[in-house]
Amino acid sequence: MPPSAPTPPATCTAVIGLQWGDEGKGKAVDLLAAEHDAVVRYNGGANAGHSVVVGGTRYSLHLVPSGILYPGKLAVIGNGVVVDPEKLIQEIDGLTQKGVDASGLVVSSRAHVVAPYHKAEDELREELLKSAAEAGDGETQELGTTRRGIGPAYADKVQRATAVRMGDLLKPAVLRERVALACVFKNSALAGLASRAGRPFTPFDPGPLADAMLGWGERLRPRIQDTAYLLHDLLAQNKRILFEGANATLLDVDHGTYPYVTSSSCAALGIGPGTGISERRLGRVLGVMKAYTTRVGRGPMPTELTDDTAHRIRERGREYGTTTGRPRRVGWVDLVAVRYAAMLNGITGIVLTMLDVLDGLPTLRACTAYRVNGAETGRYLPDAHDLAGAEPVFTDFNGFSADLSAMRSRADLPDAARRYLDFVEEYVGVPIQLVGVGPGREQTIHS
Ligand code: GDP
Ligand code: IMO
Ligand code: MG
Repeated sequence: MPPSAPTPPATCTAVIGLQWGDEGKGKAVDLLAAEHDAVVRYNGGANAGHSVVVGGTRYSLHLVPSGILYPGKLAVIGNGVVVDPEKLIQEIDGLTQKGVDASGLVVSSRAHVVAPYHKAEDELREELLKSAAEAGDGETQELGTTRRGIGPAYADKVQRATAVRMGDLLKPAVLRERVALACVFKNSALAGLASRAGRPFTPFDPGPLADAMLGWGERLRPRIQDTAYLLHDLLAQNKRILFEGANATLLDVDHGTYPYVTSSSCAALGIGPGTGISERRLGRVLGVMKAYTTRVGRGPMPTELTDDTAHRIRERGREYGTTTGRPRRVGWVDLVAVRYAAMLNGITGIVLTMLDVLDGLPTLRACTAYRVNGAETGRYLPDAHDLAGAEPVFTDFNGFSADLSAMRSRADLPDAARRYLDFVEEYVGVPIQLVGVGPGREQTIHS
């Protein structure tokens, strides 16, 4: 009998959003990148918008992993990401113009391509859903997608025959055949959708489209690689890998508020399929949560506020989408939802962001249960219809009035802020390891 295989060292870290996105994952990844050799995206696409502020300069990252801001780190776009090559090239050029060295960026040859027809489909489907919602009086609504072609690209990945992968951009004969076939399917489907939506539609011409895609491939050629082997080679050299979650657990296609979710596995559960690295290599899973809640796009949000408090939090927290510029919906922290997300991800620590934004509010509220059909429950409802019927049950806290932005220790925080943090730790059952008191890299309490 062969000797049993040794347990591999768990030297990797994951950073995952515990709410509906925009929790401050970019900043957390930027902080942690210093102690890792590679930063890897495993899901989502250009729907993500991760802002990092370094030395007063704000960087907005969509496809490029946030670790790119550290010179010498490898930044990997894994196979689970859907890549819009044109947007990726624009992003690389924008970073280079800002003086960022993007030479460490590589893309999986197995990552799927978001093509122009995917963005057209995303747009048309949303328009049709909007019309259906206006015409009906049921639950139908548009999903409120970022219109970046994410859903249609993932659908084609699963559909297979008409999908294009990054590696195909380097194979002219394969690509031309694939694009010609894709155009047959897409043009007929999109013409139908456009006519229903009363929109003009110009069919995609496979020749020029393939030419453009091959051009993007040429630009990206040195970066397109088999990233599964690349990452395993790094692990074999005892290098440390940081996984950067995009979107967030409550937007996860399986575990979020379906159907108001994105189309990928955003939770840590998506790391294996999205990179080829086993979850057994994860030593730390950090869950990022805001001290309140935001959501962009449609779908239920039990703690949503629409009053002056919402306005105040939105302005203080600059709660406007990094990707679409849409004002974010704002509400009190939903600890039922956060505890559910913490459970799914198996988090080992919490990164609590935006505590500074709550300064000056007389009372803080945290949802600690839902009332559903007259009964209280501490369990989340990962279905949009069910969650829409949940009424939040709040626990109230005294607010605090102090500028937290220069504080660097938990002991410096006002009593009321400390009590709030203690309560979150107790309720979720996981320690808070980092507290954000401002957008800057240094505006962080290591607790
Ligand atoms: P991500 O998608 O999770 O990376 O988050 P976004 O970058 O979309 O949104 C988070 C926003 O909050 C960005 O503008 C960050 O610069 C900012 N931010 C992150 N942490 C903090 C914090 O602790 N306090 C404040 N005031 N802003 C923060
Ligand atoms: P980061 O990584 C916030 C939301 C969209 C929409 C739904 C589906 O910055 O936290 P999609 O375009 O993915 O089909 O849209 O998901 N959404 C996000 N909301 N932050 C994100 O990413 C998001 N990525 C997708 O607003 O409701
Ligand atoms: Mg964001």
